[in-house]
Amino acid sequence: MSLLLRRFPGADLPWTRLGRGPTPVRELDGFWLKDESVFGDGGWGGNKVRKLEWILPDVRRRKRGTLLTVGGIGTHWGLAAALYGREEGLRVVLGLVDQPVDDHVREQTRRLDASGAVVHRFRSVARLRAAAPFLLTRYADGLRTPAYLPAGGSSPVGTLGYVETALEIAEQVRSGLLPEPATVVTAVGSGGTAAGLTLGLRMAGLRSRVLGVVVNDSFRLDAVTVARLADDTASLLRTRGALVDVRVGPDDLDADHAWLGATYGASTPESEAALAWAAEQGLHLEPVYTAKALAAVRARSAAGPVLFLQTHGPRPQSRS
Ligand SMILES: Cc1ncc(COP(=O)(O)O)c(C=O)c1O
Repeated sequence: MSLLLRRFPGADLPWTRLGRGPTPVRELDGFWLKDESVFGDGGWGGNKVRKLEWILPDVRRRKRGTLLTVGGIGTHWGLAAALYGREEGLRVVLGLVDQPVDDHVREQTRRLDASGAVVHRFRSVARLRAAAPFLLTRYADGLRTPAYLPAGGSSPVGTLGYVETALEIAEQVRSGLLPEPATVVTAVGSGGTAAGLTLGLRMAGLRSRVLGVVVNDSFRLDAVTVARLADDTASLLRTRGALVDVRVGPDDLDADHAWLGATYGASTPESEAALAWAAEQGLHLEPVYTAKALAAVRARSAAGPVLFLQTHGPRPQSRS
């Protein structure tokens, strides 16, 4: 049962279980780890699947048969939406923007083409934006336009997945599995993970503060934008009958751009060192998100326990 729904049993918040929580926590060399790698099937981990647990039933609630979402031509989010959406009987339309091609992106593009989703490719974000009205009209079912989801699934509904994760952390603290973290560290790629954690930790009454390690420079991501998403999610909860009296502002979290390096996806000496160190501990991180977040964790000398959310980069197998 979802912890969020247990808290607000009367709320109009459809949810479906796609993953396996609560994910385990353990102590590792000076910090705590919450290991999301075991959440979804087929190597998906938590990052996309936790959002889809709320997004897919909400698309149905809105009586939409088509989901439209966007990303780069190597998007993991788009692939997860395509595969899990297909299992729910939804048509999935992807607007994909060109990005530098390497072997990984080539393989992802192949998986996206084989996913059953309708794929439209664009040379730039500007061209995709210009084509959005066409896509919404072209894939309307009668008068119903497709349910649109932003990159990374970071809508207020998708963000509920990480409100849930924060409530899970609070339960684990209460049952003595870890101390109350002073800081919870996560990578920030589109903002939903950090936003949901910030809101959920406040709702649970924990004093833990989120540190979002920003790894994406393709759009504005900072404490203001993440807090706005968290606050929009709190408003969504109120609209749907969950009596949340929390408001979130930019002072409620920290966003750190120091670990990005040259750009999204470019490795840094610190992220490479973090990746190698993690491998020695038996932890399989990926270079784009979690290695940079772990680099930030390892450099911290802050007072109080630190919890690192190993959001886990997907290596899809079974749903491909
Ligand atoms: C492994 C991993 N961690 C963290 C993130 C960041 O999450 P968000 O997009 O919600 O900021 C992503 C997003 O793509 C991811 O793939």
